[in-house]
Amino acid sequence: MARDKVTVIGAGNVGATTAQRIAEAGLADVVLIDIVEGLPQGKGLDLAEAAPVVAHDAAVLGTNDYADTAGSDVIAVTSGLARQPGMSRDDLLTKNAGIVRSVVEQAAAVSPEAIIVVVTNPLDAMCHVAMDASGFPRERVIGMAGVLDSARFRTFIARELGVSVQDTHAFVLGGHGDTMVPLSRYSTVAGVPITELLPADRVRALEERTANGGAEIVGLLKTGSAFYAPAAGAFEMVEAILLDRKRVLPCAVRLQGEFGVDGLFVGVPVVLGRSGMERVFEIELTDDERAAFQRSADAVRELVEVLGR
Ligand SMILES: NC(=O)c1ccc[n+]([C@@H]2O[C@H](COP(=O)([O-])OP(=O)(O)OC[C@H]3O[C@@H](n4cnc5c(N)ncnc54)[C@H](O)[C@@H]3O)[C@@H](O)[C@H]2O)c1
Repeated sequence: MARDKVTVIGAGNVGATTAQRIAEAGLADVVLIDIVEGLPQGKGLDLAEAAPVVAHDAAVLGTNDYADTAGSDVIAVTSGLARQPGMSRDDLLTKNAGIVRSVVEQAAAVSPEAIIVVVTNPLDAMCHVAMDASGFPRERVIGMAGVLDSARFRTFIARELGVSVQDTHAFVLGGHGDTMVPLSRYSTVAGVPITELLPADRVRALEERTANGGAEIVGLLKTGSAFYAPAAGAFEMVEAILLDRKRVLPCAVRLQGEFGVDGLFVGVPVVLGRSGMERVFEIELTDDERAAFQRSADAVRELVEVLGR
């Protein structure tokens, strides 16, 4: 049986690291594509040359030609500019919209059945661009942000309580940006909500650190933004899709009335399987949480309106 095929668009930090994770897990053959000549070829060859040592058989090809991406099962979109210090995700809006539109049009044309996993920021707005450019149904255009934001929250919870990250669970909903909604009530250690394990001010501090998680890394790196954890997040989604795992993960999907939002990509828990977003997993929100979620959706709507002008 032929291995699945994943195209990773953008051979920068997030893209190359995502390609590495996919190939080294033996999950799929990988095509790494970028606009810069030589960059995907060099990184692709380098990754392929690691295969004998890592001991996997996945093929890795670097290219500038979309013909090589034809017949992909999943397309991960990481091409675009990364945030620089002092730059908000939203500053990236117009430039990255142009890039995402162009790459998705080219990739979708030769992989009409693929599932698109969007990573490029500003995430929720780029999902709108990708859906529009591909013409794919909402089940096959899914944004990666909630997995990363939840992973950051879990890291901080585990450190705070001195427990294994493996025994933590966290839900971060809403847009990927300053209005994200960490749901502490549903965030647990071994099933116990952190609101029962930590005083309210510590919970709030962890929530705030999570919401600023991207900026914290940008501030430290000074050039570029986070990529190990984002690539791990993209990998988790691709794996859930290709292995039909029915994972329940927080992802940006186009809501159609769920959570009281219509026609916008916002982060919510969904079931991910071989056909992409198989179901929105609706959970009860308190009035405060619903209001925060709505603010987050409003922030996404503003960006989409800017794009429409
Ligand atoms: N959703 C998230 O949670 C999350 C997390 C981290 C990063 N990001 C975003 O992911 C994107 C990539 O980040 P990075 O750190 O890998 O950046 P990077 O600068 O290292 O890589 C981006 C790559 O995109 C390529 N590119 C630019 N225009 C292109 C085009 N038209 N066609 C093909 N390739 C093109 C560049 O040549 C570069 O290699 C950024 O938008 C960043 O903000 C999102």
